[in-house]
Amino acid sequence: MSQPRPVAVIVLAAGEGTRMRSRIPKVLHALCGRSMLGHALAAAAGVGPERLVVVTGHGRDQVSAEAARCAPDVRVVVQDRLGGTGHAVRMVTEALGDLPGTVVVTYADMPLLRTQTLAALLREHAAAGNAVTVLTVRVPDPSGYGRIIRDDAGSLAEIVEDADATAAQRTIDEINTGCYAFDGALLAGAVKRVATGNVQGQEYLTDVVGILRGDGHPAGTVLAADPAEIQGVNDRVQLAQAQRACNGRLLEDWMRAGVTIMDPSSTWVDVEVTLAPDAEILPGTHLEGRTDVGTGARIGPDCLLRDTSVGQDATVLYSVCESAEIGPGASVGPYARLRPGTRIGPGAHIGTHVELKNSTVGEGAKVPHLTYVGDADIGEHSNIGAATIFANYDGMAKHRTTIGSHVFTGSDTVLVAPLTIGDGAYTAAGSVIAEDVPPGALGIARGRQHNSAGWVERQRPGTGSAAAAARARQAALPEAGGPEAPAADEEDKGIEGVEGVEGTQAR
Ligand code: UD1
Ligand code: CA
Repeated sequence: MSQPRPVAVIVLAAGEGTRMRSRIPKVLHALCGRSMLGHALAAAAGVGPERLVVVTGHGRDQVSAEAARCAPDVRVVVQDRLGGTGHAVRMVTEALGDLPGTVVVTYADMPLLRTQTLAALLREHAAAGNAVTVLTVRVPDPSGYGRIIRDDAGSLAEIVEDADATAAQRTIDEINTGCYAFDGALLAGAVKRVATGNVQGQEYLTDVVGILRGDGHPAGTVLAADPAEIQGVNDRVQLAQAQRACNGRLLEDWMRAGVTIMDPSSTWVDVEVTLAPDAEILPGTHLEGRTDVGTGARIGPDCLLRDTSVGQDATVLYSVCESAEIGPGASVGPYARLRPGTRIGPGAHIGTHVELKNSTVGEGAKVPHLTYVGDADIGEHSNIGAATIFANYDGMAKHRTTIGSHVFTGSDTVLVAPLTIGDGAYTAAGSVIAEDVPPGALGIARGRQHNSAGWVERQRPGTGSAAAAARARQAALPEAGGPEAPAADEEDKGIEGVEGVEGTQAR
């Protein structure tokens, strides 16, 4: 059943949030990839208000910017001093003029409040014809909250704040959540009449209930079905609890939609993530931002994916991927890193200790081991050998490399960009390829090997290597007692390693 459309939802966000002990305003702290303010605005937007209003005070510039980012047509009203919740609402009614219709008031620091709860409040408010309807909840420890005071007939009479309550009133366990539906015209008049003769010397929005009842208007309550939903966040302990609760709710929804989550306690998803049925999420996986995972894809264990799309039946294992696209049937990892702008084609394979950035990998291509691919396009069915490095950066600018289809690069190749390797070409292992390789050619760019015969026996006498070399030389002779170890080559003279042989290497 749909609820009547409110004329406005007012989200109060002027408080200081000192217990967060933070540089940033409390309501900008995020859970499941969305600020608390963003959660409150999303829940509010869900009931389709004509206007969405945020009251800011502390950190108003940052809060206003975040409000506008979350809800472009939001109206921000500034409360220049923390005069209380009644003062905050008075600032809105004075700024916006007449609000003929239902006005909802809620808080920016209740991130778990759901649209459906606001909708239930609105339905009851309309059905009962109330001037005000208060969302309430029963809690084991009501201290600190405003208490719901009922008359002899059991209907809502007033709300008394904890600080102002009598001992008897303090025993009441039904509390004010801070979320209300009001008749907008009556609200505008009543907030002007709220006095400040209370312990905190503030204008209490809660006093509007007593004022409207005193005028003979009907008031009522809706008991929230799930007390967890109205849990406010005041410090980082409560932020972590709210985050786990929000995450648990999202995972439950995905599981009911056909997604396998092997270990919900170690799996974290953001609100904007989407998961297709039969996707399988293994332990230790974090899915952030606008990540989406296709049918039958298997992610984890231990992956971090941000703003990444994973195609049908693809697998990602022990990897970190950001702003990447992984095609259907592709496999990534273990231990791969996909940086922004990486697109992996269907059925392609990215293996162990491979990093890619701003690159495309064609269908069926393989980059299996120990490789850096930066600013490159790799054609379909090409195979990039172990320890290939795409040298894309000359210290000043980045350059692209284009690899055709069915190319085979040998192990330990350095590809110096800008560079093009044609279809079906090969490169020899250990080459530094700085010039284009035409289609079908073998590019080879490395020193030629020279073996300095007998070097070990001459230069490393008395070592195990020298003894092994002597034995091998003896065994190779037709009969025992063969010649001495060979005399020194010209190129050995004065060397302690391989430097001396370099001069003999030819291309
Ligand atoms: C308020 C209610 C209390 C209720 C409780 C539920 C009043 C007088 N009391 O108490 O009955 O049980 O919430 O959590 O309303 N804010 C402003 N401007 C202000 C003051 C507050 O925007 O001048 C905002 C805060 O940022 C916060 C919300 O209003 O989001 C509640 O303010 P807070 O000071 O926490 O109210 P409580 O005293 O807890
Ligand atoms: Ca509070």
